[in-house]
Amino acid sequence: MSARKPLIAANWKMYKTPSQSSEFVTAFLPLVQDRTRDEIVLCPPFVDISAVVAGTRGSNVHVGGQNMVWQEEGAFTGEISAPMLIACGCTHVILGHSERRQFFGETDETVNKKLHAALKHKLTPIVCVGELLAEREAGKTEEVLLRQTAKGLAGIAADLAHSIVIAYEPVWAIGTGKTATPEMAAEAHHIIREQVARSLGREIADGMRILYGGSVKPENAGALMRQEEIDGALVGGASLDPHSFSKIVLY
Ligand code: PGA
Repeated sequence: MSARKPLIAANWKMYKTPSQSSEFVTAFLPLVQDRTRDEIVLCPPFVDISAVVAGTRGSNVHVGGQNMVWQEEGAFTGEISAPMLIACGCTHVILGHSERRQFFGETDETVNKKLHAALKHKLTPIVCVGELLAEREAGKTEEVLLRQTAKGLAGIAADLAHSIVIAYEPVWAIGTGKTATPEMAAEAHHIIREQVARSLGREIADGMRILYGGSVKPENAGALMRQEEIDGALVGGASLDPHSFSKIVLY
């Protein structure tokens, strides 16, 4: 039995207004109340954070941002900083999601700068890594995961690293209905954990939670979560409905 507490995070992406977020929270909280086995996190769009923080106050549900920048404040139009997320009541932040990498120029280097900033401000970072379909088909999955993990963790001090969470999200499985088999996911998680051990030491690697993401649904959550190497899930589409997300939390 692993000592790593599972983390189940909802990534709402660019869905829901503040009032829709409040409706979700009202329906969702009773479905997961008293649930302490897992850490539960909702990551709404920035404009919904206040509504979700207000609705979940005093509950077992945490709130995270979907992105942030590494500077604390300044002339960076359109950006949000770690202190701002903290001030709004966030405890977690997703970094380096493949949609940020694909559409908004995120690189291993910017993910690394953001990770340093998130740790400095005591946000729990959920760092996303994962290969494209073409990379998997070319036999490059391991190379990609090693590079993204090593560069993402560059220069992080081991004594700050215990809160880091990594999410393995094969890009070909995101929003496609295709899921990595539990065995494929476990193999990728093992590759990532070995790189974490090389970067940060065995003890940090053994304690680090590695989530799986990519078409997680109520129907497949149990089989994925039963894998010893899988410590939780980052859920997109199936997290938008309170009933479907609660079934994943209660896998
Ligand atoms: P999905 O998204 O569950 O809709 O595949 C997962 C993610 O992108 O985090």
